Amino acid sequence: MFTNEITKRLKIDYPIIQAPMAGGITTAKLVAAVSNNGALGMIGAGYLSPAQLREQIREVKELTSNAFGVNLFVPSEFKMVDEEIEKANNILNTFRSQLQIDKEPSILPSAEKTFQAYEEQIQVILEEKVPICSFTFGVPSIEIISQLKERGIILIGTATTVVEAQAVENLGMDAVVVQGSEAGGHRGNFISLHEDSLIGLMSLIPQVSDHVSISVIAAGGIMDGRGLSASLKLGAKAVQMGTAFLTCVESGAHAVHKEAILNAKDEDTMLTNAFSGKWARGISNKFTIEMQKYNSDIPNFPVQNTLTQSIRKASAAQNNKEYMSLWSGQSPTLARNETVEELINRVIVEANINY
Ligand SMILES: Cc1cc2nc3c(=O)[nH]c(=O)nc-3n(C[C@H](O)[C@H](O)[C@H](O)COP(=O)(O)O)c2cc1C
Repeated sequence: MFTNEITKRLKIDYPIIQAPMAGGITTAKLVAAVSNNGALGMIGAGYLSPAQLREQIREVKELTSNAFGVNLFVPSEFKMVDEEIEKANNILNTFRSQLQIDKEPSILPSAEKTFQAYEEQIQVILEEKVPICSFTFGVPSIEIISQLKERGIILIGTATTVVEAQAVENLGMDAVVVQGSEAGGHRGNFISLHEDSLIGLMSLIPQVSDHVSISVIAAGGIMDGRGLSASLKLGAKAVQMGTAFLTCVESGAHAVHKEAILNAKDEDTMLTNAFSGKWARGISNKFTIEMQKYNSDIPNFPVQNTLTQSIRKASAAQNNKEYMSLWSGQSPTLARNETVEELINRVIVEANINY
């Protein structure tokens, strides 16, 4: 047991949060295993429909009576430009034919439906009395924040720069995840430009800690006790670990994804906008490398995400890592295939903070 302001607030024994990882990785089994072992399990609900979210929350509640959280993508307006979509489809058709699929998606996302689904996800969180809710890709509106706070829900924002962390604090949220450039998965920048917001975690934690008074949670490349104790030393109150939990036995990640991380070197990750239209870090493969030359022709998130869906799906079904989004942080050589219990216990022993 380790106590500080954030462990007390989140009702956890250790200052460790399992990163929400949308796309089927943070299954109820993973989330509950984390919460049952003294850390905070988080459902990555970004791609879940409101009904799927409700079902998963209920599954987690069956498996644990401890605190857990839900993470949502805050939607923003996006453009649907026919010529841009046609151009992207033409580029993607090469990959579709390599995978022997011919489908261009018939249904494209609509901003109206995306905003509506997000509002419904918020209602599910309120109705299901989820204790903790975190956000990425932006900040929720003042109305949503006050609705959630009225019910005593603890709110966590995501920031990649000092100015974004201050925006999270100014909205009255309780804590902020600071996402260093090492982090796996999508970048959470929402005020700062992508190219300006690639700050390493060692620089980001102390600078944000000096400028906000809410709890800082460090994310990016943290895989073991060294990362946890360094983060605490730099001013963070807890860590959020993604890649380390992704390769755990209980995670719902595809076996090919887990293997790719377990076999990767430090040099093997790259930032790409080719899968979704939003920049994200993952293990490089044929798709990310060949798509690099088109990075200024890619439609906005979530349009490109929809356009590449059949490619990612077919690649996964064929156990072919070359066209899958293999999100990973920059420390893949530290990943292990162990149970959640083993990971959490190991990190705590290594950090020597079990007091
Ligand atoms: C596969 C994967 C999916 C992710 N999905 C989300 C998500 O849905 N919401 C979110 O806030 N962060 C997401 N992240 C980012 C994490 O919150 C965190 O910033 C990152 O995992 C930290 O870097 P690490 O993977 O090196 O630990 C994801 C990360 C990964 C690896």
